[in-house]
Amino acid sequence: MELQINDQAVQADVDAGMPLLWVLRDVLNMTGTKFGCGVAACGACTVRVDGQAVRSCVVPVSAVQGKRIQTIEALGTLEKPHALQLAWIAEQVPQCGYCQSGMLMAAAALLEKTPRPTDADIDEAMTNICRCGTYQRVRLAIKRAAGTTRKTKA
Ligand code: FES
Ligand code: FES
Repeated sequence: MELQINDQAVQADVDAGMPLLWVLRDVLNMTGTKFGCGVAACGACTVRVDGQAVRSCVVPVSAVQGKRIQTIEALGTLEKPHALQLAWIAEQVPQCGYCQSGMLMAAAALLEKTPRPTDADIDEAMTNICRCGTYQRVRLAIKRAAGTTRKTKA
């Protein structure tokens, strides 16, 4: 089947019921998106589908055919990082890093819908689990990217 991933048409010879995460990682070798729980609980596998944050471990690939899929590989580039990636670096968010691509994709979906999120907006959108406990820095980085906090020294 043909998929639209990161603004490119991609062919994948897969079963219609295969979860999108498996297609990304195991078939297309796009390993930036992580496997954590496999049951939509942790958010490590978050990608965006038509702009919305989606937990790709429980989405059959057939459900996203014809939709715009964005993965962490296309959130920004070294030359042109996304505002969230710059904020993530400035706030030194990642610890082990495993959950962070999912966090970033969920945050990107949040900021597109709500450019200046309140704490409550962030709490509602950011339900991803981080075993390293980066939650406070995630919140700071989202606010930094949104321009709703004073800048701290990088
Ligand atoms: S791996 Fe998908 S939510 Fe945990
Ligand atoms: S940074 Fe380690 S799990 Fe989140």
